[in-house]
Amino acid sequence: MGKSIPGALLLTAWAGSTLAQPPIPPASVVRFNTLCATCHEGECSARLSFRLDPGATDSHIRRYTGDIPQQAARELNALLEHMKLDCGYYAIDLPSPKDGRWKAELLQQLHAAEERAYFIPLGNLAAGGHRFTLTFEHEAVVSVQLVSARFDIAEQSGLRTREGKAAVVLVADRPGDYYLRLRTEQPARLLALDREPLR
Ligand code: HEC
Repeated sequence: MGKSIPGALLLTAWAGSTLAQPPIPPASVVRFNTLCATCHEGECSARLSFRLDPGATDSHIRRYTGDIPQQAARELNALLEHMKLDCGYYAIDLPSPKDGRWKAELLQQLHAAEERAYFIPLGNLAAGGHRFTLTFEHEAVVSVQLVSARFDIAEQSGLRTREGKAAVVLVADRPGDYYLRLRTEQPARLLALDREPLR
C-alpha cells in the first residue's frame, strides 16, 4: 500500500457521516459491533484518531480479526471513526421486521460467525420490559445484551436453550433505538427471534 492511504482512510471515515459514500456492508458493521465494540464501545471523542500510523492500526485490527482483506480492515477502521464522530452505531442497511419476528434469512446477515455473535437492530422500542424468544438450530448457551443507542446495556448471560429455545425479559429504561447482541459459547445458528413488549 502507498503513502496516500492515511488520507484515504480519513476521507472514507469522514465521508461516511457526511457525503454520499457506498455504505459499509452489514457484515463489517456486525463484526465491529460484536468484536471491536467490546473495547471501543461508546468512544465519543468526536475527534478522528491520529495516534497510530496505518501500519500499526492495521496490525492492531488483524490481531483480533486474523488475516482479513485490506478492504475489510479499512471498513472496520472507518467504523471506529464513525463511532468517535457520531457517538453511535453505524446504521445497518437491512430492514427490521415490523411485526417483531426475525427469520433465519435475515438473522444470517446479522451474524458474525467468527465471533459466534449476532448484532440485531431492533428499531424503536417503548420503555419497559420486552420478552425475547430465541430459537436455535441446536442446543446453545447464549449471552444476551439489550443495548441502547447510548450504549446502556441490560444483560443476561449463560442462558441455556431447551429444545433449541430460550426466552429472556430485558428492560429498556427509556424509549429509543435498541439493539440485541448475542454471543453463544459454541458456534450456533439462530433460526428465529421474536420480540414482544410486556404489558
Ligand atoms: C481487547 C480490546 C480491544 C479490541 C477487541 C480492539 N481494540 Fe482497538 N484499541 C484498543 C486499545 C487499548 C487501543 C489503544 C487506544 C489508545 O491508547 O488510545 C486501541 C486502538 C485502536 C485504534 C487506533 C487508535 C484509536 O483509538 O483510534 C484503532 C483504529 C482501533 N483500535 C480499531 C479497532 C478495531 C477496528 C477493532 C476490531 C477489529 C479493535 N480495535 C479491537 C483495544 C481494543
